[in-house]
Amino acid sequence: KTCILIGAAIDEGQRRPGCLMGPAAYRVAGLPQALQELGHGVEDRGDVAVVPDHDAQCPNPAVHSLAEVVGMANALRKATDEALDAGFPIIMGGDHSLALGSVAGAAAHAAAKGKPLFLLWLDAHSDFHTPLTTTSGNLHGTPVAYCTGRDGFDAFGPFPAPIPPENICLFGIRSVDPAEHAALLNHDIEINDMRVLDEHGIVKPLRDFLNKVAAAGGMLHVSLDVDFLDPSIAPAVGTTVPGGTTIREAHLVMELLHESALVTSLDLVELNPFLDDRGRTARLMVDLVASLMGRKVFDRPTRSYSGA
Ligand code: ARG
Ligand code: MN
Ligand code: MN
Ligand code: MN
Repeated sequence: KTCILIGAAIDEGQRRPGCLMGPAAYRVAGLPQALQELGHGVEDRGDVAVVPDHDAQCPNPAVHSLAEVVGMANALRKATDEALDAGFPIIMGGDHSLALGSVAGAAAHAAAKGKPLFLLWLDAHSDFHTPLTTTSGNLHGTPVAYCTGRDGFDAFGPFPAPIPPENICLFGIRSVDPAEHAALLNHDIEINDMRVLDEHGIVKPLRDFLNKVAAAGGMLHVSLDVDFLDPSIAPAVGTTVPGGTTIREAHLVMELLHESALVTSLDLVELNPFLDDRGRTARLMVDLVASLMGRKVFDRPTRSYSGA
């Protein structure tokens, strides 16, 4: 596989500065080398250039940085669509508002190929606000709503081919605002919150979703938010929520995704290197990508450690 690295240096989708250093941190943490060691080609296209859209408007006065977020979305939509023609796009964020562009690009590409697009959202949050319902005004809380074609996104233009709610799987959810909660009840989105994962583990719910993608012959975009992970193992994120997935659960998710061979594009979002502890979150994210791209936990028989 040829991995196409795309830097999306944006932190205006929320209020804590630092996520714009994310792409640099992934490069420093050795993402390109990790992919090469697995035998993949790597093409780093650098950080996308953003032209802020100063005409962008939104009736909700809470919303901030709309011009920058729309500019990034426009740039990434094009970059992701183009990268899908050449290989496997890995979008290095940047806060989660970048998915307003990357998923739109994947959707445009899938529609042109006549394939359904599926979306796996690995996140503590449902990100199902619209620019009209958000009270924080942080647009990183809105991309899932945009992907389903909900109202309120005029500044971004229509979503290319809205993703049917039943093609969307939220996974790891443990923080949902009241307006998101109400809207989610009206949409047939598959919600695997921590209540579900605690009872069933991650394997069955994920396999069920992957079977659906395979049966439909679909493309699969995965959006991995750092706060999917427990803050004790991944401190470098502005929106920590306790009770996240463990290192082993997260690797198992990635390994199952690799075995499915269904994933066609990937976002890495919300890494804030300024909050990291000697690079451990960046390195963990690189290790997770490596698992997704084929690195095995054990490359030798485990019995050799038994000492018997
Ligand atoms: N729901 C909250 C908000 O709208 C938090 C969103 C967090 N999103 C994220 N991508 N980390 O502000
Ligand atoms: Mn998110
Ligand atoms: Mn394309
Ligand atoms: Mn989140």
